[in-house]
Formats: sequence, structure tokens, C-alpha cells
Amino acid sequence: MAFGLISRSLPIISRTAVRSCVIQTRFYSSPNKKTLPSLSMEGKVCMVTGAARGLGNEFCRAFIQSGCTSLAIVDLKEQEAVDAAEALVAESCVNSNMKPEDFNIIGLECDVSSERSVQKAYQQIMDTFGRIDSVVASAGIVENYSAFDYPFDRIRRLYDINVHGAFFTAREAARNMIPNGGGSIIFIASMSANIVNIPQPQTPYNASKAAVKHMASSLAVEWAKKNVRVNVISPGYMLTKLTKTILAHDPELKKTWESLTPMGKMGEPEDLSGAIVFLASDASRFITGSEIRVDGGYCVI
Ligand SMILES: NC(=O)c1ccc[n+]([C@@H]2O[C@H](COP(=O)([O-])OP(=O)(O)OC[C@H]3O[C@@H](n4cnc5c(N)ncnc54)[C@H](O)[C@@H]3O)[C@@H](O)[C@H]2O)c1
Repeated sequence: MAFGLISRSLPIISRTAVRSCVIQTRFYSSPNKKTLPSLSMEGKVCMVTGAARGLGNEFCRAFIQSGCTSLAIVDLKEQEAVDAAEALVAESCVNSNMKPEDFNIIGLECDVSSERSVQKAYQQIMDTFGRIDSVVASAGIVENYSAFDYPFDRIRRLYDINVHGAFFTAREAARNMIPNGGGSIIFIASMSANIVNIPQPQTPYNASKAAVKHMASSLAVEWAKKNVRVNVISPGYMLTKLTKTILAHDPELKKTWESLTPMGKMGEPEDLSGAIVFLASDASRFITGSEIRVDGGYCVI
């Protein structure tokens, strides 16, 4: 994630207890196209952090389109998580032949930088579904300051969310997965784990994503024999609502990013759908400690 030279302010972090709202939903049934059965998310309980908007929200959509009917949308504000679920339902009802009672979505308020908040979110998930199979740690923030200008309290908060938040999310996932036979955890790192973005300065962000990438490798080894797989998706420049807004004020920056990308364009959030379903599903059952870069070729030049 890279948002140009504009320093955007961070959301106010709530440290209140996790609250949840269970809502009954309905989703469309995907067209009856043949695909590899092991790619199906049918019967799997999924959880995505930072899922009220952006890439996390797109991962939820991909899981639903692949047959998932039990899903926890986790984000800082309960209302935003619930609204996201409702919007997804409305969209998914188009051409639907499924019944509302076939689906169960919970919108959870959780601050991933608080271990206690993450533990409460998992408790809600276990109380509701009794198990958790696939978890995506997508919550993350970015800011652009030069190293000399970056206030330390903001650096600390970035690491609390991007690094410690990913760790808390994964550790509680594994604790709950292992008694039920295992599961799949996916960290959303960034191409910034591998390269240095230009022209915008974002050293702590880049370092945080490199940490997330190596954390995934390390946890993958720790938990390999427990059947908990840990993998990474590293997106390049993606056109989320947020990046679109920022680039609207700086069209030159978009041209710069596109010119640095071999495919000559930014990615759409749905360009990550195949990778997320692959890593979350049984189709990747012998893959752990891997990184899939979805960056239009950025990292290879
Ligand atoms: N968009 C890109 O181009 C891009 C590229 C590479 C990597 N990424 C990574 O993908 C992930 C998602 O990025 P995005 O573009 O969707 O960002 P986004 O800002 O659109 O969405 C991030 C979500 O995380 C939530 N969040 C923030 N702090 C949180 C916290 N403490 N606890 C719980 N939720 C919190 C926000 O409320 C928001 O809903 C991030 O980890 C980001 O670093 C994004």
C-alpha cells in the first residue's frame, strides 16, 4: 500500500471491548461453472481483518463467490463491519437462488493492535461457528513521511497494527485451529516487503511488511506439523477506493506508478481473488511459508 506524498491521518484506535452483531444474510449462488473442487470454500468458516473496506472487503467477496457461507468481517468499528456485510449481501443477492438462512455473517469490532481485543473477537467467532478454518490478516495502515520527519509515536502505532496486529491475529487463529485439525492463515504483506517504493518515502511501512513476510515463514515452520499453513500475498499498487481518492489529487503519481509496473497499470482489488481463494482453500494444502506477489511484475525488474 502506498499513498503518495500525502500523509494521511490514522483512524482513532478504539480500545473498547469487542462487540459483535450477528446478521442473517443471503448471497447469490455462483454460476454453475466447472472448477477444481479443492478450490471451493464451501463449508469453511472464514475471518478477514480490515474487511469493512478495501482489499479485505474484496477477500470476503471472493470467499462468498467460492461457496463460503460462514464469515466474520472484522474491523475497527462495529457499524462499518455490519454495513459492509449488508452491502455485500445486497450485491450478492443479484441473480441469487439461495435463501437468507443459508448464510451467516458476523460483523465484529476489533482493534488488531490490542491482543485482548483480538482474543475477544476469536471468542465471538468460536461461540458463533465453533471453528475457524481460514483467516486473512489484512488490516494495515501506511503513512508517508521522510525518515527524519516521522514522529516516533506514529511509527510505533504503525508497527502495532501492521506487525503486532498480524502476529496476534495469526497466533489466536492457530490456537483455535489446531484443536480442530488445522487451517490456513494468510498475511497481506506488500511488494514493499521486497522492494523500495519510489518516489514516496515510507521506510517504517516497508520494514513492517518485510517483517510480516518473514513472520509468515517463521510461523509456517513452527506450525507445519500441526497442519496450520501460513502464507503471504504481496500486492503491488492496487486501485482501492482510498488510492483512487488520493490519486485523484495527484494524477502524475499514478503515471509514475504505472510506468514502474511492467504491466503498465495498477491492479484492481479483484485481481487478488484467485490468489486468496487458492491459499485459503485445500487447493494449496502442501503450500506453506510461501509468498504470492500480485504486482503486475513490479518486483522482477
Ligand atoms: N491498496 C494497496 O495498493 C495495497 C498494496 C499492498 C499492500 N496492501 C496491504 O493490504 C492491506 C489492506 O489495504 P487496503 O488498501 O485495503 O487499506 P484500506 O485502508 O482501504 O483498508 C484497511 C482496513 O483496515 C482497517 N484497520 C485499520 N487499522 C485497524 C486496526 N487497528 N484494527 C482493525 N482494523 C483496522 C481499516 O478500518 C480499514 O477498513 C494492508 O495491510 C495494506 O498494507 C495494500
